[in-house]
Amino acid sequence: MLYHFFFAFFPILPLLKTCPTQKMNLFQSITSALDNTLASDPTAVIFGEDVAFGGVFRCTVGLRDKYGKDRVFNTPLCEQGIVGFGIGVAVAGATAIAEIQFADYIFPAFDQIVNEAAKYRYRSGNMFDCGNLTIRAPWGCVGHGSLYHSQSPEAFFAHCPGLKVVIPRSPIQAKGLLLSCIADKNPCIFFEPKILYRAAVEQVPEDPYTIPLSQAEVLQEGSDVTLVAWGTQIHVLKEVASMAQEKLGVSCEVIDLQTILPWDIETVCKSVVKTGRLLISHEAPVTGGFASEISSTVQEECFLNLEAPISRVCGYDTPFPHIFEPFYIPDKWKCFEAIKKMINY
Ligand SMILES: *[C@@H]1O[C@H](CO)[C@@H](O)[C@H](O)[C@H]1NC(C)=O
Repeated sequence: MLYHFFFAFFPILPLLKTCPTQKMNLFQSITSALDNTLASDPTAVIFGEDVAFGGVFRCTVGLRDKYGKDRVFNTPLCEQGIVGFGIGVAVAGATAIAEIQFADYIFPAFDQIVNEAAKYRYRSGNMFDCGNLTIRAPWGCVGHGSLYHSQSPEAFFAHCPGLKVVIPRSPIQAKGLLLSCIADKNPCIFFEPKILYRAAVEQVPEDPYTIPLSQAEVLQEGSDVTLVAWGTQIHVLKEVASMAQEKLGVSCEVIDLQTILPWDIETVCKSVVKTGRLLISHEAPVTGGFASEISSTVQEECFLNLEAPISRVCGYDTPFPHIFEPFYIPDKWKCFEAIKKMINY
């Protein structure tokens, strides 16, 4: 178990007890997924800034030496070029895995992603597609990343039909979901919670496996409040659920959304129909964040079941502050207060 300043990571039991597993942190589970892909798919290539050296977060360590510089290579410092190249590689029939060094710096590639990658199938009437493109990027806050190294930009991409957007909470999920993204026939954005790269350690199967996209996971069943998040916030909400049980006798259901687009409306609504209350937390400004989308859908689908207004515990409508970042992040205390308010509504 590892305590960080705003969450604690508890490893979960091995997914498959019968297959060989290895102790891996989150960046190593990414490496393992990429290694499996390069080994099984001779067309697969990995490219981005510094990936040939292993990448700033070490996700591609050893892969160039193992598979050669034609399959794992550096690109110029040009995000638009990285994604544009990736679209071409995918359209030409290869499996393209692009790395953007930080999610904060994905915006120069925004046009390539939303106007080209996402629309390519649609505008050709399904004659062409770049579904074999996967874009990975380190994501989320670290406590001191500030304006340019802590952002969670999933909501920008959630507004774009044609893409899939996926965020894992742990090493086991990271490997299975990344392999699903690589195999998926649509361009996928895979955001990796960078605070978990080293902090999260689990026994991860060495062999390839997939975890279905667009399927949320109920991590803990409960009857009074539904708590929904993705990535690092899952670990915050798990602790909040224990606090609520201990201090208030309130039973929380914890749901990891896993895929932001297209998201699993059914699992979330089924839970809210049961509990009557919903809290969503995310590490991005509250206005236009993905919690707003979940909130309005649940309001439409479950209005008569709601016992209290839906609660969003998010960042503020400012850029990520530097020394005040710990106050910006939705933490267990803010979530706990929101639960109290919902219960006493
Ligand atoms: C994507 O990859 C699969 C499997 O490698 C391949 O069969 C398919 O033709 C590729 N798609 C395109 C559009 O090239």
